[in-house]
Amino acid sequence: TTNRTFTMIKPDAVENGHIGAILEKITAAGFKIAAMKYTHLSVRDAQAFYAIHSERPFFGELVEFMTRGPIVAAILEKDNAVEDFRALIGATNPSEAAEGTIRKLYASNIAENAVHGSDSDENAAIEGAFHFAAREVF
Ligand code: CMP
Repeated sequence: TTNRTFTMIKPDAVENGHIGAILEKITAAGFKIAAMKYTHLSVRDAQAFYAIHSERPFFGELVEFMTRGPIVAAILEKDNAVEDFRALIGATNPSEAAEGTIRKLYASNIAENAVHGSDSDENAAIEGAFHFAAREVF
């Protein structure tokens, strides 16, 4: 297990003014920011990032949502980063997310769920490398 994970603050949370509150939760939970940028995914970027979901019925909706406005992308560092970050954000569906989790606090529904968190060390590395060059990671 590595000590890094990858996150995005998604367009819904950016639109709703939650960037600051979400970053506060992340840093208060002990995560260090190894890399961070404010960016806007193109349709091509989103299709590539979510290629693993390309056969899902919600793929089109997912790409449309993730490209409708800017996001914050970041690589986070902490012991047990992937698992601890998934606990901090809560279940994919905010209606099933535990009290106090980022999705419970800031997400609207299963599609517009405020934040992304990598689901494995392998995907954390792939997703981080998708968004950041080595010289942008500290
Ligand atoms: P995440 O787990 O970060 O990455 C895959 C995303 O697909 C997920 O967040 C949601 O934004 C979206 N997603 C998952 N399930 C559904 C669904 N049933 N309907 C619409 N979007 C979904």
